[in-house]
Amino acid sequence: MELQSIKQRFGIIGNSPLLNRAIDIAAQVAPTDLSVLIAGESGTGKEVFPQIIHQMSARKHGHYIAVNCGAIPEGTIDSELFGHEKGSFTGAHEKRKGYFEVADGGTIFLDEVAELPLSTQVRLLRVLESGEFMKVGSSNVIKTDVRVVAASNVNIPKAIEQGTFREDLFYRLNNVPLFVPPLRDRKDDIHLLFRKFAADFAEKYRMPPLRLTPDAIRVLSNYYWPGNVRQLKNVTEQISIMEKEKEVDATTLKNYLPGVSSPDLPVLFKKEEEEHFSDRELLYKFLFDMKKDLTELKKVVVGIMEKDDSKFDSEQTKSLLIKDINDEIEQVQHKIHDVEITPELHKSDEQFHPSEVIEESLSLAAKEREMIEKALEKHRGKRKNASKELGISERTLYRKIKEYNIRN
Ligand SMILES: Nc1ncnc2c1ncn2[C@@H]1O[C@H](COP(=O)(O)OP(=O)(O)OP(=O)(O)O)[C@@H](O)[C@H]1O
Ligand SMILES: [Mg+2]
Repeated sequence: MELQSIKQRFGIIGNSPLLNRAIDIAAQVAPTDLSVLIAGESGTGKEVFPQIIHQMSARKHGHYIAVNCGAIPEGTIDSELFGHEKGSFTGAHEKRKGYFEVADGGTIFLDEVAELPLSTQVRLLRVLESGEFMKVGSSNVIKTDVRVVAASNVNIPKAIEQGTFREDLFYRLNNVPLFVPPLRDRKDDIHLLFRKFAADFAEKYRMPPLRLTPDAIRVLSNYYWPGNVRQLKNVTEQISIMEKEKEVDATTLKNYLPGVSSPDLPVLFKKEEEEHFSDRELLYKFLFDMKKDLTELKKVVVGIMEKDDSKFDSEQTKSLLIKDINDEIEQVQHKIHDVEITPELHKSDEQFHPSEVIEESLSLAAKEREMIEKALEKHRGKRKNASKELGISERTLYRKIKEYNIRN
């Protein structure tokens, strides 16, 4: 099928080469039974890809089941995926079919696959390799024919290093890797997406659609979009609801972009702000370039090691060297994350004290974290109840738990 008609059928907006490449891979791999592992930051639009793969395969009349591995409690995930026998654990009053049995002849989408407990990873590997599994509490082997598409917004090779993800499972899932690029790498698509969302919300709220001034388009396209397309959609909805004036200028738009300076900055800073990158953007760019360089360096070092073994006296030297580089990369990644979650510093006057400002902005994040921890404690780790209490969706809670590294 033509790229354009796939986009139309699945409501995908954008023409960036990186996005086209991802769609092309999905379309090509669809008719096979290969497992596909979709990688990409949160909000980049991963969820549509397993649907393309299922719909364009011979399995399209079979079941399509999407499972969010991170939202299912560890204690029940095996039973959800593979089913259980009556009485196999407290509360198992009836026997139950798991998704792998129900989806026989179809496709299962394992979203947030890196969240699977190690014991479940073993079961998953077996079913991927042999098509065989056993229900919880049973020793009968059941056969199934399921195609698996998985997705993750975490770095799985890193999870392997940390021992939370099985390397063999990674290779088995990663038959075909598919990368969904972050929005900041599809700059030309940003305004296109904005216009589409603005038109949708105009219809939903029965109002004329938003328009952006040329300056605002520039701000929109150069923003970092840490939350990717999801954030762009949310921002468009917020502006659609909040702003009476439907022509939105750069100053108004900036109010809706976390991390971008507010309009009430002193004139002194404002001018500079509009013509140059902000400090934060520069810091971002610097850190990202540094990460890229380190990753390149790692490739070069590994290349040399493979080619010329004699230069390295022992396996230990090699692994120490790689570990050092990995540690550096990780540290840079942490710094990048800090910049992402820290709201823009307020430059209220010329003598601003960076340390104070950072403390103040971090304290907001700390408050949020504290509230989440309290709610989880109160509901004894039950995310569903905690999210209700906090007034956020379970998925948002799940994302925040990961973002703040909260033990749950
Ligand atoms: N190219 C696109 N065209 C139109 N809408 C898009 C596009 N990409 C993403 N979206 C929309 O953005 C939102 C977020 O996408 P999605 O839920 O697929 O993200 P994700 O990559 O699965 O994120 P997460 O890792 O957080 O689960 C959805 O509402 C989706 O419809
Ligand atoms: Mg998703």
